[in-house]
Amino acid sequence: MAKDKVTIFDTTLRDGEQSAGIGLTTHEKLQIAKQLEMLGVDVIEAGFAASSPGDFQAVDLISKEVRNPIIASLARCVPGDVDSAWDAIQSASRPRIHVFVSSSDVQIMHQLRKNPEEVFDMAVSSVERAKSYCEDVEFSPMDATRTDMDYLYKLLTAVIQAGATTLNIPDTVGYAMPWEFSDRISKIKENVPGIDNVVISVHCHNDLGLSVANSLAAVQVGARQVEGCINGLGERAGNASLEEVIMGIETRQEMLGVSTNIDTRQIYRTSRLVSDITGFTIQPNKAIVGVNAFRHASGIHQDGVLKERTTFEIMDPQSIGWPSSSLVLGKLSGRAGLRSRLEEMGYKLTDSELNQAFKAFKDLADRKREITNADLESLMSSQRRTSDVPNLYTLSSVKVTSGNDSTPTATVTIDNPEGSSIIESSVGTGPVDAVYKAIDKVVQVDNELLEYRVEAVTEGIDAIGDVSIRISKENTIYVGRGSDTDIIVASAKAYMNAINRVLAFN
Ligand code: KIV
Ligand code: ZN
Repeated sequence: MAKDKVTIFDTTLRDGEQSAGIGLTTHEKLQIAKQLEMLGVDVIEAGFAASSPGDFQAVDLISKEVRNPIIASLARCVPGDVDSAWDAIQSASRPRIHVFVSSSDVQIMHQLRKNPEEVFDMAVSSVERAKSYCEDVEFSPMDATRTDMDYLYKLLTAVIQAGATTLNIPDTVGYAMPWEFSDRISKIKENVPGIDNVVISVHCHNDLGLSVANSLAAVQVGARQVEGCINGLGERAGNASLEEVIMGIETRQEMLGVSTNIDTRQIYRTSRLVSDITGFTIQPNKAIVGVNAFRHASGIHQDGVLKERTTFEIMDPQSIGWPSSSLVLGKLSGRAGLRSRLEEMGYKLTDSELNQAFKAFKDLADRKREITNADLESLMSSQRRTSDVPNLYTLSSVKVTSGNDSTPTATVTIDNPEGSSIIESSVGTGPVDAVYKAIDKVVQVDNELLEYRVEAVTEGIDAIGDVSIRISKENTIYVGRGSDTDIIVASAKAYMNAINRVLAFN
């Protein structure tokens, strides 16, 4: 028997972008949206059009450029928001307006400072207004898990009558337990007339670490849309991590009796892209996409996996597109070999992109004997970064002396936008500090370094180091990433990437 499909609704660009410290440009949002389309998500919530001109522009652009998924814009239950949402999504091949309003007493009273009757009217009239524009209308009673059940039944019944086609039940504050949440969904199914003609959706936050468990518990009792974000981004502790929800469904299909339209082999790539662009690195032991997710440390486990993979692996790493660690290329590999390997990994490059990638590959092969798929993924990320952000300043060289008995000193050579090379030196508290101070003397972009992180992309002494930083300028946060086998060079590249971003977007 054909399995029911669960609609996968991605809100990385809306709820995910609300994560403290994330600020995406329109171009970055479009890149993520295109990758989400490759992943096969059914709905992309591209933003909250009325919230800012930048959000409006991103929703509008994604609606025009990303044609397969449904494109949704969030809107409060006020006429102006619904109108803006429609203006932004009207070019989408499949537009959706998603209206929401608080429904719990605590939020109605203290946040909205209204009464339940007023909220009821706002919800119904906004759904009607959205419906006058667009067939596909989603309604969310915010804080549904702390909302009085009788009020919730009445509200949901009324918005179905007003034309809502998806009813989303958010656990806005991440308060519910899985059994309690599924019980609430079952009760809604029993007590809301007309519910069988609409899709029940869930949107769970992770304040108690239960967002994925709650989402899957809801699927088990009939929810047929799950909302979430790649890498579990989102307000506070985040939303349900979409890759975990998807692989939960995929791995336990028989038990849940449902499937999705997702191409799971795109999961790793999507996760990396989102992490790369947002600068939110992934914890090593994160389910599905953390670097340790498929690593076996204990002898017994290693022995078991070598004898039969399924002894200790419930998922095949290749099913999520995990780059295999087998040796692929080296110093003697040619352009054709690189192209074919990148194509196998899902990259389709133009000749000029291939030329650039090949140059970077040769450069890496001079310093690293064995180049694995993970190295190639990192190399392609660096290529993307350089093509995304105009290189107003280009790092040409960096030299550092440091040690336990000397003052760290750095000299950098940087090509400025006019094409001349500038050399500057500085001392610092450590080699990275010295490099950053030397760069500052050249670029003269006043900023504050908020965060600095370094991680190894692959194993071994010649591993590529991936540096991610966050700087702040005039209350806006800019991310910078850089990779190199030398972590001081990677640090310099990350800083240049962030500085170029500041200059490009100001
Ligand atoms: O968490 C929440 O309740 C939301 C709604 C806007 C759906 O993000
Ligand atoms: Zn949310």
